Amino acid sequence: MPQADLVVVANRLPVDHDETVDGGWRRSPGGLVTALEPVMRGADGAWVGWPGRAGLKAEPFEFEGTQLVPVELSDEEVELYYEGFSNDTIWPLYHDVIAAPRYRRQWWESYVQVNERFAEAAASATAEGGTVWVQDYQLQLVPQLLRQARPDLTIGYFHHIPFPAYGLYSQLPWRRQVLEGLLGADVIGFQRVADAGNFARAVRRQLRYETKASGITVPQPDGTVRTAVARAFPISIDTASYEELARREDVRARAAEIRESLGNPKHILLGVDRLDYTKGIRHRLKAFGELLQDGRLDVEDVTLVQVASPSRERVAAYVQLRDEIELTVSRINGDYDTMGHSAIRYLHQGYPREEMVALFLAADVMLVTALRDGMNLVAKEYVASRVDNRGVLILSEFAGAADELGSALRINPHDIGTLKDTIMQAVEMSPAEQGRRMRALRKKVRDNDVEKWSRDFLDALDTARARNSAARSE
Ligand code: G6P
Repeated sequence: MPQADLVVVANRLPVDHDETVDGGWRRSPGGLVTALEPVMRGADGAWVGWPGRAGLKAEPFEFEGTQLVPVELSDEEVELYYEGFSNDTIWPLYHDVIAAPRYRRQWWESYVQVNERFAEAAASATAEGGTVWVQDYQLQLVPQLLRQARPDLTIGYFHHIPFPAYGLYSQLPWRRQVLEGLLGADVIGFQRVADAGNFARAVRRQLRYETKASGITVPQPDGTVRTAVARAFPISIDTASYEELARREDVRARAAEIRESLGNPKHILLGVDRLDYTKGIRHRLKAFGELLQDGRLDVEDVTLVQVASPSRERVAAYVQLRDEIELTVSRINGDYDTMGHSAIRYLHQGYPREEMVALFLAADVMLVTALRDGMNLVAKEYVASRVDNRGVLILSEFAGAADELGSALRINPHDIGTLKDTIMQAVEMSPAEQGRRMRALRKKVRDNDVEKWSRDFLDALDTARARNSAARSE
């Protein structure tokens, strides 16, 4: 296998296994994939990741101009490393303990082993003096493991989810090892300034390293020091492709058809999330149910469409959440539906991008009520799709997107009373005010698209490379 100058390492490959398509692989719909595709193609790139199915063994192969390097996970590793440590320890801990994290030593051991496997695969895939860009919380130990194996490389790490306050982070029995793992990178990127601040504080408190602005002084085994940069690089979407879809005749016709099939209500409210306890779906349902109960909204006039795509279905907290949400939805529908109108149209399914854009165009109010979220790209997708400058975005201040999207109606999802009032404000907002706000939001998302995100991050890595080679030749 040829070695690449730029290697992305992520828990998942950018493709899904699918026997029904030619070649057996289909490009997966994720945003990161679209973001990095042009960069990878231009840079002689490779992508190291898990093909998404336990026990699947595959040789490296080329897909649409990128070299893909599959990392195999056994059934047991999916259970311990992926469902266990990644999604039942780190995920809840880093999302403010909304669900209780479980600290199991066996999960940690598997996490270490799997991180070693990813690091080895990345080390063999990367050319001398090349760049490796590690993605997300499943792989926090990879930067340091890679640096040990390949001191010639420039290493970046981007953290897609929140980094918690030290008071929570310090619960982690392996808090030192994780910080040391991350500090193996030259550049450590976070979604929000606050996340980078929480990380720097954890490093000061736990490791006693010095931090100054975004620089962290990391002592080396040989007695010298090097600087790691930790700062915010808010991720975004491929804005132009959403705008293009939203202008397509068939997509607009589909939006009209969706409204029609819901019985042409005056107002359509929309929620689109992975079915995850961080998303605040229950808070949203509570507020909506109470508005119907109070008579401030009438089921003849308004429908809430809730798309909840299936996620991590074997993790207990997700199983329980699904039961609770489905119970709540059917109670509300049972209490308020009429023969012709449904209060909530609940869809436990995933949809292609065209259908999502049609849904965004059909929705008068978009509800993003996350209790904690790294960024929340759905908020940006909704804005990018509203090329007609209509629609209202209600956005939780606990989502990273709230830092940039100041013209949204920002809410605290725990405050159900204010959430209800804000839904009413959105439903009653004049077209002129919708237009004013949406234009400002669209400008933000257009000026800061995902191409800019990856360029900014890779530029920071170039600066780090120059600094390292200057330090080496000193
Ligand atoms: C979040 C994480 C990603 C993850 C995605 C889907 O966005 O930041 O790393 O890939 O959720 O979750 P899954 O467990 O299906 O990969």
